[in-house]
This record gives sequence, structure tokens and C-alpha cells, in this order.
Amino acid sequence: MTVSLGGADLRSLRFAQEHHLNHYGRARLPFSSVRASGVEIEMADLSRDGELFSVIDASGGYGSACLGAGHPAVRGALDRGLGESGYVTDEVGSLERARLLERLLGAEGLWRDHFPEGRYRVSGRNSGSEGVELALRLVLESRFDGRRLRYRPERAQRDTILVFEGAWHGWTDGLLPLLNRRHYRVGLPGLPTGEDGLRVEHVPFGDVALLRDFFAANAHRLLAVFVEPVQGDAGILLPPPGYLRTLADLCVRDEVLLVADEVLTFAKTGRFFAMVDEGAPVHTDITVIGKSLGMGALSTSMVFARSELGVRATGAVATSDLRPLTCAVINDGLAHIVAEGLLEQSKAVGEHLSHALRTRLVRRFPEIYAESRGIGVLHGVELTGKAAGKLGALRTELVRAGVYVEFMAGAGRRSHGLRYVHPAMRIAPPLVTTADQADLIVDRLCAGTRVFEDLS
Ligand SMILES: Cc1ncc(COP(=O)(O)O)c(C=O)c1O
Repeated sequence: MTVSLGGADLRSLRFAQEHHLNHYGRARLPFSSVRASGVEIEMADLSRDGELFSVIDASGGYGSACLGAGHPAVRGALDRGLGESGYVTDEVGSLERARLLERLLGAEGLWRDHFPEGRYRVSGRNSGSEGVELALRLVLESRFDGRRLRYRPERAQRDTILVFEGAWHGWTDGLLPLLNRRHYRVGLPGLPTGEDGLRVEHVPFGDVALLRDFFAANAHRLLAVFVEPVQGDAGILLPPPGYLRTLADLCVRDEVLLVADEVLTFAKTGRFFAMVDEGAPVHTDITVIGKSLGMGALSTSMVFARSELGVRATGAVATSDLRPLTCAVINDGLAHIVAEGLLEQSKAVGEHLSHALRTRLVRRFPEIYAESRGIGVLHGVELTGKAAGKLGALRTELVRAGVYVEFMAGAGRRSHGLRYVHPAMRIAPPLVTTADQADLIVDRLCAGTRVFEDLS
């Protein structure tokens, strides 16, 4: 028996479909979330008179909802944060913020291996994009003397930033030049070049020889490298072993700042941070984390920067910088993740999921899926060229089959003859997902793909 949503709620959902600015350049998906608990979402199908159906979440809200919906640890943190932590800005200290920073960076700190005590400072922003903007600002300030208001003579010639093909670092104007896809940039003014300006260069991700060549030719002009340790929007592209270490070594050798954009990867790869090599941290000058950091309840990011980096006086003051309520959510969320061993659990579930995606989905539907790749609970299933043209229809059938997934743009045509990378379905379920739920995700992907195949 089908159950549908009542008149007033259905009217509201249709109203919102029309009035929420559509950023996707195509018709909106006809689905709306009505309520959610854990990794289950109850959705209404607006193209079927509000018919209600249950969906398992394989996306985690663009990879942000690490504890699923309505988690008691997050509820408790919000309650404490609102009830007692207050709302002071970064001008004065707060106990909640102090507890968080000590938990992360203190002598026994959770992340002391990545950010040794006393060597890094932290700032909070509202979103991943804002965090990467702050990283870019820190990079630009590093070649400028903010007190004398002139370039530092020894850094003045460093006018180049290296980014990787297919990168996505956020949508705000300052970050547009970092994206190498013309589609995102054409017609929009970027950062100026010339004096006070910047050159942005791109190389394909993962090719050590090309990286070395680039450094050999450009190191004297190179100011910084921005890297996603696993490329997200490019279709979940993993670096070969040793690549990130080589990149870091080249940066140290040539005095180039290394910026890791871990907005997506931070808690998704079966451990904290993906800047690792053979299990050991690969140190950066700046690391930005976001998405999962807000535990699915808040949008927030943190920027870890080497102590010597900074922004000119009052140039980066923000109303939202590590507010106590935000810190309460991060504090309790991280404590829960650690106490329950959720990263270890997600690693095991992720391996199970990876195997199932390869053997039960990609192998079964070779006309639609080209390959599956990933790490932890961050997987990309790349479409074939044929299926890429019908991505909207495929996604609709997958959701109707009861699994919510997203699609990434893919890296497109890359330089140096590397192969084209088509869009990829991102499977990035919350950390709390169980092995049975991972199986259900793959069952439903198969069911939806079968319907799509029959209709095509
Ligand atoms: C690697 C990376 N950096 C930055 C961002 C931007 O984060 P936000 O959407 O929170 O602004 C994203 C978001 O998709 C991302 O994947």
C-alpha cells in the first residue's frame, strides 16, 4: 500500500522546489526529505503526488553527515552548547574552545602527530570554501610584509600557485582561479595577474615524473601547492603510494607552502586525515578540514596553519571563528567517534563495500559503470561514456530504488595524454553505516540500475 504526504505539506514542498535557487542547470530531482533517522531518510516523490518511500543514505549530505541524522551525541552537544557555553567571539577565550584545542593539539592531543604541539595555530570558518579562502589568504600574505606594506624581497618573485587538474576547492570568487575547468571560470573575473597578481598552473594528479618536471622548471616562482589528498569532484582519484610524500619533500626542498584541502577527506578514509604515507603523517604548512567536522548538524571548517603564518591585522577576523556552540559539537562528536572506534569500523565496512561495488555492481553492469575505486567510506563508481549522458535518469531510478547517491563531475580531459575521466557516482555513507546497510546500498544500486537499463 502506498502512503502519500498530506495536502499542506505537499504544497509547501512544491513551493520550496520553485523558490529554492536551483544551482544545477537542469530540472531538480523530484524528491524531498520529510524526516530522517540514522542513515534512513523518508522521502516524498513530488512527481508521484507526494508518495512516501524510504531511502538509505549513501551520500552523507555531500560527505558531511558522519554520524547520520539525529545522533544522541550531537543532540547532547547542542543542548550543552546552547545551555551553558555562550557565544563569545575569538576576542576572548572560552572554556569550550580551550577544551577542543587542547584535545586536538595538546601534549596528549588527538592530532599531535599531524600538528606537533606549539607548531600550528587554528582558526574556524563557516564552510569548506571559507576555510580554503583563508588558506589562500595565508599563502598570499606569506610573500607580503603586512606592516611595511610591501613584498618581502626574498619572496617577491614567488607568483605561482600549483593546483591539480580536476580539483575542486570551493565555489567562492577567490577560489575560482584554482579550478582548471573553463566552465567554472569563463566570464567571471579571477584574481589579477601581473603586479599583486598570481599565476595558477595545473598538472594532472598522481604522476610523479610530471610533478618533478614542474618543480624543476618552476620552483623559483612557486609560492604554494594546493592538493586534495584524494581528489573528490574529479571522481575519487587516489594518489599512487609515495606521491604525497614526494610532493611534501619537493615543497620543503624548494621552500614552497603545501596546503592540503582535507575538507572532504578528513574523516572519510578510515582514519583522521588522508595526508599520510605508509601510515605516517605527511606534514603540511596549512591543512583545511570541514564537512564531517560539523557532525552533520553545523557547517563549519578549521584551518591549521604553521605558527609563522598569519594575516595582516584584523584582515581575517570572522564572527564565526570557533564559537563555543560549534566547538561543543566538534568536541562531543570527535569524542564519540574515538570512543566508539567509528573510524576503524568505517574502514572495515568500507572494504566490504568496495568489494561489493566491484563484484556485484560494476562487473554486473559493464555498459553503465567503468570502474569503482576508493578508500574508507569514500568511493567513486565511474560511469561509461554512454551512461554519462543519461546521468539524471540514472540517478532518479537509483533514488526510486531506495538509495541516495550523488554524482561528481569527473576530471574530464586531462593533459599529457592521460585518459578522460567521466563523471562518477560518489558513495560516501556516514561513519555509522553497518556492513548490512552497505549490502543494502549495493542491492538497491543494482535494482535501480536494472530499471534504468530496461528503460534505456
Ligand atoms: C575538497 C573540497 N574542498 C572544498 C569544498 C567546499 O566546501 P563547502 O561546500 O563547505 O564550502 C568541498 C565541497 O565539496 C570539497 O569537496
